[in-house]
Amino acid sequence: MISENNSLSLLAYTSIANHYMSHQELIDLLAVCRENNSHADVTGMLLYLEGCFFQVLEGEHDKIEALYEKISKDKRHHSVMKLTFEPLVERGFANWTMGYQSVTREELAEITGLTDFLDTENTGFHGMETTRALKLIECFRDGRWIRKDLTQYKPISIGA
Ligand SMILES: Cc1cc2nc3c(=O)[nH]c(=O)nc-3n(C[C@H](O)[C@H](O)[C@H](O)COP(=O)(O)O)c2cc1C
Repeated sequence: MISENNSLSLLAYTSIANHYMSHQELIDLLAVCRENNSHADVTGMLLYLEGCFFQVLEGEHDKIEALYEKISKDKRHHSVMKLTFEPLVERGFANWTMGYQSVTREELAEITGLTDFLDTENTGFHGMETTRALKLIECFRDGRWIRKDLTQYKPISIGA
């Protein structure tokens, strides 16, 4: 008998986009993520820096494992590298079916205080050590970035 694992878990990975993704392509991707994730009770965040993704997925262990399997086969990116898959006591992004930020190195350094992002030899997210990834998640979890996530809001027009 296959045992189910419904315990709350966190998975983080990095990957490299297969081509430069336009703002519209990212918006379309996020729409699917948010729709699917809300049904599966998955939360998290997605960062995009210089053609690399950093994603955090939170939810039931088995759902996260299956989602990661699916995402890692997606042709829009490659070199998908799992950084951590660990038990979680409490969700850090409970209100976010998928928070999104496209960031520059300068912004990352400012938000996280991790100045090594500014080193020219630093490869950004890719090949990032787990401890550094956890520090990155912690910095974003405290909410300073949320105000800037404009993809969560529908444009409003004022006047006729
Ligand atoms: C960087 C990246 C992150 C993604 N994140 C998610 C996600 O959080 N949730 C999700 O459902 N799909 C995500 N996807 C998309 C999936 O790979 C897949 O295209 C989508 O879930 C639709 O699958 P379906 O055709 O089986 O419905 C992501 C894709 C990429 C390239």
